[in-house]
Amino acid sequence: MRIGVGADQWGFRLKEALKDHLAAQGHEISDFGVFGEEAVDYPDVAAPVARAIAAGSLDRAVLCCGTGLGMAIAANKVPGVRAGTVSDPYSAERLAKSNNAQVICFGGRVVAADVATLLVDHFMAAEFQGGDSSRKVDKISALERSPEAAPGTAGGAAAEKAEA
Ligand code: RB5
Repeated sequence: MRIGVGADQWGFRLKEALKDHLAAQGHEISDFGVFGEEAVDYPDVAAPVARAIAAGSLDRAVLCCGTGLGMAIAANKVPGVRAGTVSDPYSAERLAKSNNAQVICFGGRVVAADVATLLVDHFMAAEFQGGDSSRKVDKISALERSPEAAPGTAGGAAAEKAEA
């Protein structure tokens, strides 16, 4: 797989460990930095990684910051990108299977490298299951295209029920 990795200074060491782990498995790795523990604003790293995912030049990506939260929030702002922060194996697997996410995020101050290594393996091995999940992910895409609730799209159904 073509996998992008990126981190801020709080996720740098974890990113390095995961990069080595994934490269050893034969994945093609693109490193978007940081390349040391210099301070960087996490959206400045999340943005190019997420754009590469949206453009189709990466299959998946791993983003690390202190908590994994800022990276996920920033990556999710790029249309077509689905990112989530995980710290347990079930969620790591469901992130791909249920949510069709391309980006997994970790907190370098939250999960140890050995744990994140296990989690990233669960994520990379998982594929979107389709079925009912397709309808739900399609509603996320609809919400992204038009944040205002519209009939038959995310928000529209809930709003219609509330009015009934
Ligand atoms: C570090 O504590 C934190 O602010 C940053 O790395 C990131 O976790 C933000 O979400």
